[in-house]
Amino acid sequence: MNGTDRFPEGFLWGAATSAYQIEGSPLADGAGPSIWHRFSHTPGRTRAGASADVACDHYRRWSEDVDLMRELGLQSYRFSLSWSRILPEGKGRVNPRGIDFYSRLVDKLLDAGIAPMATLYHWDLPAALDDLGGWLNPDVRHWFAEYADVVFRALADRVPMFATINEPWVVAHDGYWTGVNAPGHRNAFELPIVAHHTLCAHGAAVQAYRACGSGSAAKGTIGLVVNLEPKYPASVMPIDDQAVTRADAYFNRQYLDPVLLGRYPEDLIALYGEAWPNPDPADLELIHQPIDFVGVNYYTRKVVRHDDGVWPDRAHPVDVPGATYSETHWEFFPAGLTRTLCGIRERYGDVPLYVTENGVAIADPPPATDGVIVDALRVRYLRDHLNAVRAAMQQGVDVRGYYVWSLFDNLEWSAGYSKRFGIVHVDFDSLKRTPKASARVYSEWIAAHGLERART
Ligand code: FCB
Repeated sequence: MNGTDRFPEGFLWGAATSAYQIEGSPLADGAGPSIWHRFSHTPGRTRAGASADVACDHYRRWSEDVDLMRELGLQSYRFSLSWSRILPEGKGRVNPRGIDFYSRLVDKLLDAGIAPMATLYHWDLPAALDDLGGWLNPDVRHWFAEYADVVFRALADRVPMFATINEPWVVAHDGYWTGVNAPGHRNAFELPIVAHHTLCAHGAAVQAYRACGSGSAAKGTIGLVVNLEPKYPASVMPIDDQAVTRADAYFNRQYLDPVLLGRYPEDLIALYGEAWPNPDPADLELIHQPIDFVGVNYYTRKVVRHDDGVWPDRAHPVDVPGATYSETHWEFFPAGLTRTLCGIRERYGDVPLYVTENGVAIADPPPATDGVIVDALRVRYLRDHLNAVRAAMQQGVDVRGYYVWSLFDNLEWSAGYSKRFGIVHVDFDSLKRTPKASARVYSEWIAAHGLERART
């Protein structure tokens, strides 16, 4: 950092969204339904029956949305592609209108000087594939590679950064264990199978990318996006330390070890017990493809205590007295981001990293007299977390960029529209976008290549 307070030249300042959470018009122009479309239309699955039939209407307002990104000075935009817009049945027939939507978006981003980072999968599996077993079917790796190949042929000449899968932990844990996310299963035996298949699909997509690159225009980079949470013990008792190790194996190492080291953690296998699917060793080779970066989604830490009643890690999260919690009941804990980024380097060596999501849901105050929502708590959250990123960089961690979650208030999955993460307010009646104070401050930081060191 050359002894200055600035972030280095070339550090990318961005914001992130995902397809189902913002696009709306889920069946437009020949798209097939996704599992999230089905899930949100199943009574009782989402808060107040919310769906993304309209969401932020980005599918129709994308061009103005890119104008807004340019006004804010964003240098990069992370978004996801809807698989079932591109392959309505998940495989086989390609829907050119689905590809065209993303192609136009990418062109306009490039015109605006905004580098696209495209995530292939942010939880919206084509429903037609769910009918074939979805993430439980071992063939999902082939379906995903086929879809990825279609995307790469269409967009890899212009998209410099691809992410394969967003947060495989959530795909497995909330889709197949808690059932809070689509497809809403609750099955201990399915959980590790799905987790493994998401990693196989990741590896197969990376292979497809490399294969495409040799013959055509894929000159960019590809990586995986994981959500990481450092775990801390609730007491000084060894039993809680052991809970920390288990929670870390389940949440963090389950995904990064196979991808970056080519093996599952031994202690993870023990946690699953008879549910462990004994994957084929050849699958580990597939998963262990060289990748160009790891995307880290960081929101909070967890303080845990031993609890035999919690499966599979027997670790129960506890609240920290006096701590600040967000609307999603996630503790503000910026030091955990430094620890997470440094921890990756310690365990896996030098891996280029992006913070691909970081942000907070708060109860935004009503607009001030000038109409601006002064979301001071979000400004503080972002500032403290950016300082935490900088601290990791000062310790030598190779962090290449930072994406706020989220550009817009949007559909927060089964919580519906009740949790606002945006730096831009969205009025879900009029669909009007209004940058909050956090957007303005973020914009100033980008213009200054950083932020003043927090003096606390
Ligand atoms: C992450 C998801 C993202 C959003 C944030 C709050 O786990 O990737 O879509 O829901 O949490």
